[in-house]
Amino acid sequence: MKESERSFGPSRSEVQAHRGASAIAPENTIAAFRAAAEQGAEWVELDVALLGDGTAVVIHDMSVDRCSSSTGNLGDFIAADLETIDAGAWFDPRFRGEPLPTLAAAVSALGELGLNANVEIKQHPHHKSLEQLVKTVDEHLRARAPQTKIMISSFDAAALRRMHEIDPSYELAMLWSQLPDDWSDCLKSIPAGTVHLGYKSLSIGFLEEAAHRGIKVRAWTCNDPKLLASFWPAGLTGVITDDPSVYLS
Ligand code: G3P
Ligand code: MG
Repeated sequence: MKESERSFGPSRSEVQAHRGASAIAPENTIAAFRAAAEQGAEWVELDVALLGDGTAVVIHDMSVDRCSSSTGNLGDFIAADLETIDAGAWFDPRFRGEPLPTLAAAVSALGELGLNANVEIKQHPHHKSLEQLVKTVDEHLRARAPQTKIMISSFDAAALRRMHEIDPSYELAMLWSQLPDDWSDCLKSIPAGTVHLGYKSLSIGFLEEAAHRGIKVRAWTCNDPKLLASFWPAGLTGVITDDPSVYLS
C-alpha cells in the first residue's frame, strides 16, 4: 500500500507485531522480533512471565509445551534450563536452535534492532508475588537502550496499577477481550489512558466515546486490514497483528 492510500489505516508507528512477526517466525523469539524489523515494523508486542527462580522470560503460555521442543511448566524451570530449550524448531526447522529469550536478552535485542516494545505482563499462578513480577520487569526495562520506547499492557489491572506506582512515566494499556461495562472507571483507577481490545469487540460507539475521553484504543489480534477499515475514521489508534506487512506494505 502506498503512503497516499493509507489515509484510513494505521500509521507505521501504530502497527505492532504480535509476539513479534509471529506469522512468519516463532512467536516471542528474537527471530520474530528481527522479522518484524525486517518488515518495517517499529513496535513489537511481547509477553513476559517468570520462571520458578524468578528469571523473567518472554513467552505467552504457562508451559513451554506448545512453543518449544521441551515440556514442563515455567514454575519448574530455572535460568540454567533455558540452554536446553529450543523455541524455534516447533515452528519450522529453519529456526532450530532459536532460544527462549530472557527479558534481558529481548531488551538488548530491541536496542540492536531499533524496535520499541509493548510489554505484556502475564500473571500466572506459579508466580510468587505480583511485587516480584513487576519489580523484575521494571528492573530489566530500565536497562533498555535510550532510544527504545516501552509501553506496558496487561489483562491484570493490579499489575498496571503497581507499574504506575513504580514509574508513572510508563504508558499503560488495559487489555480486554470484551469491553466491560465499567471500562472507564477501571481505567481511571489504574490510571491508564489506553485500551487494547479484542478486535471482534470493537464498535463505532465505543471508539467515539473513547476518543471523547482522550483514551487511545488499539485492536488485537487482527491480520486482515479489511476487518478494521470502518474503525479508523471512528478513532481507532492502532493494531496488534501477527503479520505487520499486511498493514505496512
Ligand atoms: O496484547 C495483545 C494480545 O497479546 C493479548 O492476548 O493472549 O495474545 O497475549 P495474548
Ligand atoms: Mg500478548
